Amino acid sequence: MKGILLPSLIVTLLLLLFGGTTTAATATETIDYAKQDEAVEDLVEWTIEKGGYFHPNVEIRRWDASDPTSYFGAFLNGSVKKDELLITIPGGIKIQLHDDYRTNSTYDDVICVLAWELQDEYKDYIEGEDGESDFEPYLYYLDQQSEHQIPAMWSEEGKKLLEKVQGKYYPRDFEADPAPGSHLHDWIQQKYGWCLEWEGEELDEWFLAVVLQRGYDYALIPIYDMLNHNNGDVNTITKPTIFDKNSFGVYALRDMKAGEELLYSYYDCPDCRKCRACEEYPGTPQCKQCESTLTYWGTSEMLRDFGFVEPYPHRYYFWNPIDEKTMLSQGIIVDKDEENGSYAITCFDGRCPSYELIEPLAKNLEPMFESDILPLKDTLPPLEYFTIQRYHETLLNDFQEFLKAVKAANEDDSKKEL
Ligand SMILES: *[C@@H]1O[C@H](CO)[C@@H](O)[C@H](O)[C@H]1NC(C)=O
Ligand SMILES: *[C@@H]1O[C@H](CO)[C@@H](O)[C@H](O)[C@H]1NC(C)=O
Ligand SMILES: *[C@@H]1O[C@H](CO)[C@@H](O)[C@H](O)[C@H]1NC(C)=O
Repeated sequence: MKGILLPSLIVTLLLLLFGGTTTAATATETIDYAKQDEAVEDLVEWTIEKGGYFHPNVEIRRWDASDPTSYFGAFLNGSVKKDELLITIPGGIKIQLHDDYRTNSTYDDVICVLAWELQDEYKDYIEGEDGESDFEPYLYYLDQQSEHQIPAMWSEEGKKLLEKVQGKYYPRDFEADPAPGSHLHDWIQQKYGWCLEWEGEELDEWFLAVVLQRGYDYALIPIYDMLNHNNGDVNTITKPTIFDKNSFGVYALRDMKAGEELLYSYYDCPDCRKCRACEEYPGTPQCKQCESTLTYWGTSEMLRDFGFVEPYPHRYYFWNPIDEKTMLSQGIIVDKDEENGSYAITCFDGRCPSYELIEPLAKNLEPMFESDILPLKDTLPPLEYFTIQRYHETLLNDFQEFLKAVKAANEDDSKKEL
């Protein structure tokens, strides 16, 4: 779930009570790309009918118009000026929870209730119970998406392999992890087992997966949820006021040219933002809460929640067992200059993990492509294979770059920061 909502830091481990219901993904799902195109067209039309607006230079289309399998996003076919209104999302197309959830519910409650709400709408849409759903174009659009986009919905083979690649690194939030790395794919059972049944009715896990992946705090927001993620100075649009039930506008953050994509950061990377609570009231519980959630999302959590390996810069967080009170004590930021191919390594808040912590992780990853990943090339669903292979390559590369940087810093006193 993207946005600025602070996740609950208290992890309730109900996994032992509700371990059983795993939806095994089938490898045989077929995607109808023409229907996806049609669904997106309908979605745009519906948005306009409901009072929405698209700047004449904004196109909702596939990244590569000639490749029917490429991803959807919002692109410019002409220039726009800083602060120009690009898109208006009308309030009536959002599936949104009541304002009270803002003050009276935890993050997990919100995800759960929104998933049930989505399932109810979906039932209306499929079965026509109580008349059709008001959100038919959005539900039709969701229906055309792969059900296996995020690791929680992957095949058992894909999950096992991801677990192996992830290894023991980063067990934060899931201290009692039954298997190292499993929090990247088993979070539905581990964290939301309690949500899957209510008064004799069952919630399909897919709705939880959709809410986590596409939801924006208290709402599912059609069109807005098609805008893609990136961090840093490529961000091109402003973010909405999340609790507003009315329409909201998406504005250009800078002058932009034809061909650019409208992007924003799903997680406000920690080195891109500051906790206002800490600036105004340093040392308060609100400040501490904010600081601990600064590092809730990094490259691995993006994979968990959205199903892709984000572009550089990458961020990795490590639990330091010496300091049990601090959820996150150490983090690496790896940036790559795409032009000259060089890397810049920094540590989050100056707190670097040790060389000794990272070296075995890199060593463990080294032979894994040949020994574990490649042999499953023809067995795994293609998207899972592609994603795991890319994640493995990324982790190995970034950890190796980190080790190189530490060595170089040790040899050069002027670069003491690592
Ligand atoms: C840009 O895209 C929009 C939306 O598809 C379209 O209406 C408009 O004619 C396009 N403009 C140009 C210059 O191609
Ligand atoms: C939310 O909490 C406030 C304060 O405890 C209470 O007054 C209000 O009635 C609650 N709203 C709901 C819907 O439970
Ligand atoms: C690559 O470019 C970056 C940013 O311009 C610069 O800081 C860095 O020194 C360059 N590295 C090399 C090897 O040229």
